[in-house]
Amino acid sequence: MDLNPFDYSDPVEPKDLIDREPEVGALLRLATGAHNTRLSAPRRFGKTSVLRRVLQDARGMGRATVYVNFYGVTTLEEVAVRIERAYREQLQGPLRRAAVAAIDALRPTGRLSVAPGIGVEIHGQRDHDAAERLLGLLDLPIKVAQRSGGPVIVAFDEFQEVLSAGGEVDKLIRSRIEHHGQAAGYVFAGSHPGLMAELFGERQRALFEQARPVRLGPLPDAELAGHIGERFERTGRRVEGVLDALLALVRGHPQRAMLAAHHLWEATPADQTADEERWASAREGMFTELEEGFERTWSGLSRDQRRLMSGVAEGEGTLFAARTLQRHQLSKAGAQHARDTLVAQGVLEASGGSAQIVQATLDTNGLAPGLYGAAISVASNDPDEPLLGIPVELTVLSPIQIWRQANFGSHGDTGAGADAADPDFDGISNLREYAFTLDPQVNNAAGQPTITANPAG
Ligand SMILES: Nc1ncnc2c1ncn2[C@@H]1O[C@H](COP(=O)(O)OP(=O)(O)O)[C@@H](O)[C@H]1O
Ligand SMILES: [Mg+2]
Repeated sequence: MDLNPFDYSDPVEPKDLIDREPEVGALLRLATGAHNTRLSAPRRFGKTSVLRRVLQDARGMGRATVYVNFYGVTTLEEVAVRIERAYREQLQGPLRRAAVAAIDALRPTGRLSVAPGIGVEIHGQRDHDAAERLLGLLDLPIKVAQRSGGPVIVAFDEFQEVLSAGGEVDKLIRSRIEHHGQAAGYVFAGSHPGLMAELFGERQRALFEQARPVRLGPLPDAELAGHIGERFERTGRRVEGVLDALLALVRGHPQRAMLAAHHLWEATPADQTADEERWASAREGMFTELEEGFERTWSGLSRDQRRLMSGVAEGEGTLFAARTLQRHQLSKAGAQHARDTLVAQGVLEASGGSAQIVQATLDTNGLAPGLYGAAISVASNDPDEPLLGIPVELTVLSPIQIWRQANFGSHGDTGAGADAADPDFDGISNLREYAFTLDPQVNNAAGQPTITANPAG
């Protein structure tokens, strides 16, 4: 059984890229020369495929490359998480170590309140200031370039999405990249021409004139014809008769061309020729698929998955917050299960990374006085540290210890606070001062002589 040679969903392997030589060449030359470019085209025109090829070629030239896809980001934290993850996952050896060390140094120290007066220092958990952290992450090319000895090639895909993370992100990004000089060559790719124009084309926007434009147009008919014909032939089929009709329909749209070729190939048995009739049925199948495409994902979801997706679509900060769960009528377990299956199916991407402030109260009622050891467990989405155990020490004081603490600043039976001591020289020991609720720092001798002289009465 032979496999359909036309893939129309994933970005194509660099070796399968049709045409795009001029665009790839220009992007590669500019990026390796530490110049910035922007690649705009509608969705499905092959931007990601071109980026892959550019990055592969750049690696072939010994350059470090980082690819970040901002599709679906809604918060500053997510922008930061995507960037961090790209450096962690895509670099290797000393370059990765340099990046990870720089990332780790960005993690602030936080303080978690457990109960009034008791605090726990937390390292590397809370993001006090997402913007501050993002600035640090944006500067990673400088650290990597110091090691690699040449510009890092950074591809920011679906870059228009950063606008959803708040109006100032482009300003933050520009404020860093304009200092990167020879450290980096950026390629900004975006599928929303309107938003890309807004980001780069308007004078008042921060990235104006920061990146040379490169456009991806339709694929030339001759190149498409060659590619499709060759693949039909290679799999024992003929296509010549209807190729013109196919090309006329798709008009150079790369993904539609592959979609049409896929259906036509499917309608053509081995050792046969794609004729008018087969083309008609292929076209029908193609339209049906396009129509259904948008609904297919949705209809494949369970009720909880749809509810979860609604929550995700609304971009709520904490998906598992009680309020969010309630609004979407989800139980926590149901939401987690839905999330896990959707993540497994690739419908949802786990991002996380937003800071959560946790309040915990320790109830000391009923605890005998003494020293207690405990650990606060913090679940984290950092694969290196999925569960952080934070040791906590808690001293439960007895009544006299509390009294000593209040009067002498320390609860121990020692020094001025010792039971037998008499720091106010009134002849009344601390233990008695406590028993008769006197002030151990005030000489009570004159007022209370009988108590000491003759306690039995
Ligand atoms: N140069 C190309 N050669 C072959 N197929 C392409 C090319 N460009 C795009 N395609 C087709 O379009 C689909 C989408 O490509 P992709 O790179 O994901 O586009 P974009 O990132 O612009 O949305 C691919 O699955 C492939 O079928
Ligand atoms: Mg893409």
